[in-house]
Amino acid sequence: MAPHAVKLAPSLLAADFSRLGEQIAAVELAGADRIHVDVMDGHFVPNITGGMPGVRSLRRVTRLPFEVHLMISDPDFFLRDFIEAGADSLLVHWEGNNNLARTVQSVKALGKRVGVVINPATPAAVLEEILQDVEQVLVMTVNPGFGHQHFLHTTLPKIRRVRQMIEQIKPGCDLEVDGGIDTATAPLVVGAGANVLVAGSAIFNEREEVAVAIKRLRDSIR
Ligand code: DX5
Ligand code: ZN
Repeated sequence: MAPHAVKLAPSLLAADFSRLGEQIAAVELAGADRIHVDVMDGHFVPNITGGMPGVRSLRRVTRLPFEVHLMISDPDFFLRDFIEAGADSLLVHWEGNNNLARTVQSVKALGKRVGVVINPATPAAVLEEILQDVEQVLVMTVNPGFGHQHFLHTTLPKIRRVRQMIEQIKPGCDLEVDGGIDTATAPLVVGAGANVLVAGSAIFNEREEVAVAIKRLRDSIR
């Protein structure tokens, strides 16, 4: 895969919330491709973050697409709300959803992109029947709920399997990874077939400007 084909999706979870607008403008200027928003309900995952109001306000500060990663127990109740707030794509988990096809169709009926997310312990095989209906697969490379975690190397063979499935069933479907992505792990996941990288702490940190962090991440996969 050509390196320029790899897209970066900074995760706001690691950003400085006192100057979110500024940080989004900085990643946009530095060439980020999408903004990744993590929504947690304290039930599906053991952590809580914000919801629609944040997306609605931030929508006004950038032209970049917003992808909203829903780590919540009943995503069906909130699909329309997030889309009305300004989400361009919704990422919904396979885990805990007893009618994923309905959730996927609901997002499509609302006219937006939809992606399916699988946790580290969930096998690639669960994607087989739903893959043709989605624009994106997100393979979690940490257990969802927190930023700053270590990348789970055991997910690499699964990323390769998902890449093969995509080529067979839905060429053009994005293969995204989320969790522990930095200059050391980005080349590994890109080598395994990922073409969209979520990165929180590797982009928003106190060591460097976001533009420098984004350039280092891009250089690592060149
Ligand atoms: C974790 C979230 C991630 C998180 C990644 O549950 O889904 O998007 O922000 O953070 P880093 O890049 O620091 O692992
Ligand atoms: Zn995420």
